[in-house]
Amino acid sequence: MKILVIGGSGLVGSNCLSHFASQPGMEVMGTYFSYPASNTEYFDTLNIDNPENADIESFDPDVIMHCGALTHVDKCETEVEESYDKTVRSTLNVIELCKAYDARMLYVSTDYVFDGKDGPYDENAEVNPLSVYGKHKLEAEQLVLNKVPGSVVIRITNVYGDEERNKNFVTRIAEACVKGETLELKLPVDQYATPVNAADVAKALFLLARDGKSGIYNIAGVDFLNRVELVEKILSFFPNNKITFQSVTTAELGQPASRPLMGGLKTDKFMGEYPDFVFSTVNDYLRDFKEKANI
Ligand SMILES: NC(=O)c1ccc[n+]([C@@H]2O[C@H](COP(=O)([O-])OP(=O)(O)OC[C@H]3O[C@@H](n4cnc5c(N)ncnc54)[C@H](OP(=O)(O)O)[C@@H]3O)[C@@H](O)[C@H]2O)c1
Repeated sequence: MKILVIGGSGLVGSNCLSHFASQPGMEVMGTYFSYPASNTEYFDTLNIDNPENADIESFDPDVIMHCGALTHVDKCETEVEESYDKTVRSTLNVIELCKAYDARMLYVSTDYVFDGKDGPYDENAEVNPLSVYGKHKLEAEQLVLNKVPGSVVIRITNVYGDEERNKNFVTRIAEACVKGETLELKLPVDQYATPVNAADVAKALFLLARDGKSGIYNIAGVDFLNRVELVEKILSFFPNNKITFQSVTTAELGQPASRPLMGGLKTDKFMGEYPDFVFSTVNDYLRDFKEKANI
């Protein structure tokens, strides 16, 4: 099976690229846009005819995974057109690629399609996005499911894990602890989610792609935490850290985009089909992180 990972330089995409490549019988190709990460070639989903783009035609993928989006939720709220382009229009272009190569699509979505009144959510829960980001992700999901038969939409939230740029929240805080950086954080105590390791997302996605699954699947870790609990967990691994935080409500934070407060995702559907799958925990990741940092 040949899988093209668009956004292979990002957190989710890079983990998928390395896991897929380690599986027997798999051929992978990964792309970047602004950050030329290892094993990636340039590709712009907003300009699919750019002659500088990677040669997808020669690769001729069976499956195309689309990880590209404007993921900065507050920026999406103020830059609506840019959000539409980078999330919806880019997905429309990837749909065209799927049609051209007769490929199935793996699309990566979010729990921000829900309003956060009563999470964690299962796949059949009623959607009601509160933010521009959530609305555009939902629109993209629906386009994929309607226009590319046999496609998979996975919903994830609060992803952490190994990545070249260490830009995800959990890793950034852990890294700041290791480096002895002084940080003063304001953390929303009322935003709950189910953080997931990108390495687990990659493993789960591989199974779904290999087994020709279709439709929506939640992929989430077993922790259900708010931001304060998440940071307390991280700091507990680094007793000499110089990080302090203030626990505030989301209303007090005044973020431009509304968040689903009681968010998070239930994985009963996925676990019902893959009962032997084990999702790792934030603690597992932090233990590994400390070991790699020789602490
Ligand atoms: N991280 C989370 O907690 C989370 C939660 C829910 C859903 N998601 C979804 O998961 C997906 C992946 O997120 P992530 O956390 O891995 O984000 P990320 O690390 O920012 O990765 C985004 C990827 O998209 C690429 N990209 C951006 N604009 C592009 C364009 N015009 N053409 C081609 N590629 C482009 C980026 O390339 P460069 O970096 O090289 O520019 C990068 O490889 C996104 O769709 C996001 O909405 C993420």
